[in-house]
Amino acid sequence: MKPASNLFTPAATEQEMLCIFGTGDLGRSLGQRLFQTGYKVVYGSRRPHSCGPLPPGTQVQSMIHVAAAQSARLVFVCIHRENYNFLETLAPQLKGKVLVDVSNNLKKNMYPEANAEYLQRLIPGAQVVKGFNTLSAWALQNGPSDASRQVYVCGNSLEAKQAVIEVATKLGFTVLDRGSLTAARELEDFPLQLFPEWRLPLQLATGLTAFFFFYLLIRDVIYSYVVNDKDISFRIMASLANKVFPIVSLIMLSLCYLPGVIAAFLQLYRGTKYKRFPDWLDRWMLCRKQLGLVALALASLHVLYTLIIPIRYYVRYRLAAHTISQIKENKTSPFDTTMAWRTDSYYVIGILGFGLYLLLGITSLPSVSNVLSWREFSFIQSKLGYLTLFFCTFHTYLYGWDKFLQPSSYKWFMLPGYMLSLVVPSVVLVLKLLLLLPCVDSTLTRIRQGWERTDPE
Ligand code: HEM
Repeated sequence: MKPASNLFTPAATEQEMLCIFGTGDLGRSLGQRLFQTGYKVVYGSRRPHSCGPLPPGTQVQSMIHVAAAQSARLVFVCIHRENYNFLETLAPQLKGKVLVDVSNNLKKNMYPEANAEYLQRLIPGAQVVKGFNTLSAWALQNGPSDASRQVYVCGNSLEAKQAVIEVATKLGFTVLDRGSLTAARELEDFPLQLFPEWRLPLQLATGLTAFFFFYLLIRDVIYSYVVNDKDISFRIMASLANKVFPIVSLIMLSLCYLPGVIAAFLQLYRGTKYKRFPDWLDRWMLCRKQLGLVALALASLHVLYTLIIPIRYYVRYRLAAHTISQIKENKTSPFDTTMAWRTDSYYVIGILGFGLYLLLGITSLPSVSNVLSWREFSFIQSKLGYLTLFFCTFHTYLYGWDKFLQPSSYKWFMLPGYMLSLVVPSVVLVLKLLLLLPCVDSTLTRIRQGWERTDPE
């Protein structure tokens, strides 16, 4: 048998032979990519003569898995866990080999141990590495230019992991090492998760949208039907939607900044940065990017809805009716400079807010954020982020103007939607202002640089 160190020498990668157990979709696509990258590929199959067409250039060993395994140092196990049992019979041939477990399960917690750990138990003499399981056959065929770039690996042997990392890097993937084989279960759960970090922001957006939709439906449409006997249900389509979307967007934008402010006050209270934040705060901070992107999508809808205001039948009808009635009554309303200032200001502040909002969204995309230094990224996301929140909040205050003084704004004692939307952003901005006070800011900076407050005994 070859000495183990020979298996990992760089020279071995020249026209190196790799083995794949399994001729299913994933095995075939993997073989094709490996072959295109310059490896020799050999397949081990239970029925080598009837396993269908394989990528051109690859070989199917006639001596079933045994011969295939013997010809390569690295074996990709592309078979279902239920069929692992037979691998036990190959234990002598697989001794000292690197086995890459690419399997996944249909459900979480289907088995007491991870597939890769099970494989390691079946063949203790081999070095099992979990990897490539987050890639689909499609992603393998198309390569990293048109699909996911990341490959996760974990395993107990550093040398074996290095060998797998070399292959993955040669295929053009970015490799993330997740540590020992105990992380295999986590890697096997990855493909079963459906946008995990988007779940909370999407649930929040749905919950808030539903709440504000019914709130405004009662306050505007049902109120008008019951009290004034007027059917304005058509407003649901545009007017109501154009209230709900910006309201939810503004609240969600402020929720991106609230956890940072809470964390700062917590650090000030504890006098140290070395204590862990509560789990809920950690989770909240981790989904800020997704919160912001959902909020941006809703703000974009608000902008699009605003564009159609002038062409709406209802708006044109009201304008024409108003003009005709003024002509009939021989009246003209004087030009209101304050109103002109107000409307122009809230439009312009809204536009500036939306422009910055877009900038925040664009810079949070990995392809853009990767080319920014940490300082540039934090300047945009933090400083310009607060400015965005300020503009959007100010836009809403200007829109509300003096409406809060008019009793007709409080139908059935329900506050207008825009007032409710201002609560969280205003709180966040006031708290941020407090944090910017020189004495508070300097203490926080010292804490973040590692200083700790020692309480007197
Ligand atoms: C309301 C325009 C951006 C938040 C309005 C209204 C208009 C408008 C015309 C009144 C709608 C109505 O009469 O029902 C604009 C323009 C924007 C912009 C032109 C930028 C191009 C934003 C952004 C936000 C925002 C980025 C932040 C999320 C709001 C809110 C209201 C509002 C909360 C009050 C909704 C209500 O209760 O009626 N905006 N907006 N706007 N806008 Fe904007």
